[in-house]
Amino acid sequence: MKWHAIFEKNVLILAAGILITVSIGGIVEIVPLHTIESTIEEVEGVRPYSPLELAGRRIYMREGCYNCHSQMVRPFRDEVERYGHYSLAAESMYDHPFQWGSKRTGPDLARVGGKYSNAWHVAHMIDPQSLVPGSVMPQYPFLAENALNIGDIAAHLEANVVVGVPYTEEMIAAAEADLFAQADPLGDHNGLLERYPGATVGDIDGNPEVLTEMDALVAYLQILGQMVDFSQYTTEDLRQ
Ligand code: HEC
Repeated sequence: MKWHAIFEKNVLILAAGILITVSIGGIVEIVPLHTIESTIEEVEGVRPYSPLELAGRRIYMREGCYNCHSQMVRPFRDEVERYGHYSLAAESMYDHPFQWGSKRTGPDLARVGGKYSNAWHVAHMIDPQSLVPGSVMPQYPFLAENALNIGDIAAHLEANVVVGVPYTEEMIAAAEADLFAQADPLGDHNGLLERYPGATVGDIDGNPEVLTEMDALVAYLQILGQMVDFSQYTTEDLRQ
């Protein structure tokens, strides 16, 4: 009781007391972070985006898809039952900037890869209402007509290296060739798939003549949630 009165009656002692208490709290939370290499758990399968996926991701941002779609399955039962395994930090470790989003006018897209065929995505992007009557999603028919801007793809990979994405010299040198190969049904996919396992290859938008923005966007959508093989993990493993 006596000690308490000293703190309560002298504002400077009270301020010093607050400072010391808050510092202890801060040290307890911050110091352990310096003893570990990374705060992101290592998860097998997560890889940098292929050049075509990366280009598609840029179109996703340009068109503002994140205004209506999140990419973040939260660890709640209703979310997991609807979308699949909740999102892991590692899944967006190569996203600069991340696309978690905060608004769901449309459904979450973190697990949309592999859910539909390429043809479904193309038809849906051109005219969502033709597949989902009453959809409020805008139409993006121009994506199928716009040739993809390819000139700066190697520079795009290099910019990602600066912020920590582990693209190798080999990946950067092959970036433009990989960009074309991924959407070319007759392309040499071996090297590409070695560098970027699980990438969707082949004629994506039904127009093998031109590499379009649609090819890139659908390649990106098809890899979302597909890098990690969740059947290998139990919920307990991921909680460590
Ligand atoms: C105005 C809000 C809005 C915007 C902007 C928008 N969408 Fe949608 N999206 C929706 C709604 C609503 C649905 C659900 C109905 C449907 O499937 O059309 C949807 C559905 C989808 C689906 C199917 C998801 C599933 O699991 O069935 C995909 C894929 C998709 N959108 C991709 C995109 C992409 C890519 C963009 C940007 C080019 C985009 N959306 C922009 C509202 C939007």
